[in-house]
Amino acid sequence: MSGTTRIHRSELAVPAIRPELFAKAAAGAADAVFLDLEDSVPEAQKAEARQNAVAALRGVEWGRKLLAVRVNGMDTPHFHRDVIALLEAGERLDVIMIPKVGDAREVFAADLLCSGVEAGAGRARRVGLGLVIETAKGLSQVEAIAGASPRAESLHLGVADLAASLGMRTTAIGGLVADYAGPGGLLDPWHFALARVVAAARAAGLRPIDGPYGDFRDAAGLEAAARRSRAMGAEGKMAIHPGQVAAINAAFTPAEAEVAQARRILAAMEDARRQGRAAVALDGRMLDIASIRQAEAVVAKAAAAA
Ligand code: COA
Ligand code: MG
Repeated sequence: MSGTTRIHRSELAVPAIRPELFAKAAAGAADAVFLDLEDSVPEAQKAEARQNAVAALRGVEWGRKLLAVRVNGMDTPHFHRDVIALLEAGERLDVIMIPKVGDAREVFAADLLCSGVEAGAGRARRVGLGLVIETAKGLSQVEAIAGASPRAESLHLGVADLAASLGMRTTAIGGLVADYAGPGGLLDPWHFALARVVAAARAAGLRPIDGPYGDFRDAAGLEAAARRSRAMGAEGKMAIHPGQVAAINAAFTPAEAEVAQARRILAAMEDARRQGRAAVALDGRMLDIASIRQAEAVVAKAAAAA
């Protein structure tokens, strides 16, 4: 499936050392699930987490979910073992998520490793890559990273690591940050990073996915964050708790009124075309041929969610 057509609104993180959560995640409403081998797993349990993930690829019924595993970083002694074990575990895995991607050469190396392991294992399906942008280096190289492999499907903004890497003054995961304010109140400190990730992802035909909102009891904060990232072009957002999934799905599904308005725009542009015009007015607002592309994107997104 191409990078932009797969439905990828919510993406639930599940620590792979908690296999009792796998069936709950599989039965839930998240469009995507990723089993985590990286930062939710203590160093001493890396092998156990990997075994759990392999067992889950084979033994859990994941339905039509986008199924991913977040492997350990390429600068660790675990990365190559993770990739080998996962790609030797059959065909179900859709995407390997690589954390802390720093430049295009790393993506190229990961692609080569996947090709070798797939060939050796006789895997018929090519696994996709989800690339997590969460370091100053990765953010500064994001365009090259996005274009580095035909396996790449998605770019993911990692907010906690990025905050640490950039030296941002916060220990929260996503959301607003005290002191970063303008005359109207707090501003969105993730705007620059998310805008770069969205543009790089779209330019390369990948899905841009926003990072998590760590304060999982703050429903209003999550909704506001999800709506901001949707407004900027993100395709979806990571969830770190199942209680966040419904709100994220809703935020990234066009509302009925939005779809109705998009259909009115398409109808108005069709009338315009018949009259030999390309720029017309609707409710005091200008429409032109770009409006068709905007409206079609809304209708297509609603259809994909339905
Ligand atoms: N996936 C599936 N189910 C989950 C879940 C997850 N990520 N997180 C919690 N649940 C389940 C719990 O097992 C519990 O189920 P139950 O009602 O059947 O007992 C229910 O959802 C409510 O969980 P709750 O008690 O509110 O959460 P917790 O205190 O057990 O765990 C976290 C909170 C944040 C530690 C946990 O949600 C988690 O580990 N999240 C993912 C962390 C992660 O992957 N980080 C790396 C990516 S950034
Ligand atoms: Mg991280």
